[in-house]
Amino acid sequence: MTLETDKSGHVDHAHVDSHTGMATTGHEWDGIRELNTPLPRWWLTILYMTIVWAFFYCIAYPAIPLFQTFTKGVLGWSARGSVNEEVAELRAQRGPMVAALSNASLKGIEQTPQLRNFAIAQGKAAFGDNCAPCHGAGGGGSKGFANLNDDDWLWGGTLEQISATLTHGIRAGDDLGHLGAMPAFGRDGILKANEISVVADYVRSLSGLPVTTGADLKTGAKVFAENCAVCHADNGKGNMELGAPNLTDAIWLYGPEKATIVEGLTNGRGGVMPAWAGRLDATTIKALTVYVHTLGGGK
Ligand code: HEC
Ligand code: HEC
Repeated sequence: MTLETDKSGHVDHAHVDSHTGMATTGHEWDGIRELNTPLPRWWLTILYMTIVWAFFYCIAYPAIPLFQTFTKGVLGWSARGSVNEEVAELRAQRGPMVAALSNASLKGIEQTPQLRNFAIAQGKAAFGDNCAPCHGAGGGGSKGFANLNDDDWLWGGTLEQISATLTHGIRAGDDLGHLGAMPAFGRDGILKANEISVVADYVRSLSGLPVTTGADLKTGAKVFAENCAVCHADNGKGNMELGAPNLTDAIWLYGPEKATIVEGLTNGRGGVMPAWAGRLDATTIKALTVYVHTLGGGK
């Protein structure tokens, strides 16, 4: 690169390109000269405007990092503040409904369609967050985790019963919760292996399931009457006070296979559900009660 210089050695900025009639910058690379074309005015205007905008933006909004903190901006805006505002707005919108829900009785909620729909929506959301991990997204349950969609209830399906179950839990250490469990007949030596086998067959026969060929159902019935009827009732239809399931229907908490029944009789059974009173507020428990009640055959 060589620069055009005049006689006194100064760069010749005034050199004019003969082709275009435009001044060059005076820079030259291998005979190619750089035209001094000005930036378009519209482009420059926008550039200056953005610089001015950035300057005022930095003053108005949080912008410049300092050592421990950052400049807060004279408008006092913050991302968190704006979220808080939106949440407060939502609360204010829902406020009357939430207040109505927390003041209404369970019966009252059931009888007011608008309140009932609100409770179901709230309950459904809370169910997804808190209950679905154990009971499944739709409340269908799985082995040992009660199905909430059917009208077969371990502890009762009225609004009051569901509410009590949720509030105090099941075998979760809350004195007001559901307690008691099925004894470990085998492990604790209450029944011998052959007695367990024969009563398991008898239990299957109660719901019309096939039994082991030659099973002595008469002895099974006797073992049942002596050891099981106290909780599951003489006819095997269960007892909701004790959470003892109905053994005569097609709905099973753990399963109808003989091996599953024998395993339960050997080691005992006692599913645990947390008490929700300490974890969820009373209004949420109410909403959940109404939601669960609608799932299946609420009584
Ligand atoms: C840690 C697992 C777990 C979670 C979480 C859980 N449950 Fe349960 N739930 C159980 C088990 C296990 C049972 C069955 C207990 C038994 O065997 O008696 C049960 C039973 C129930 C019952 C009684 C059903 C009947 O037939 O009487 C209701 C109602 C219920 N759950 C509702 C809920 C709701 C609503 C939530 C969410 C707030 C919830 N559960 C969260 C494990 C759980
Ligand atoms: C002290 C009360 C009690 C006694 C006595 C008792 N059970 Fe149970 N049984 C229960 C309870 C409570 C459950 C439910 C356990 C749970 O929810 O986890 C249960 C569950 C069962 C189940 C599982 C049902 C299912 O749906 O999967 C079978 C089967 C059963 N019992 C049979 C028997 C037989 C047979 C005897 C007598 C040898 C007996 N029980 C004695 C309380 C009792």
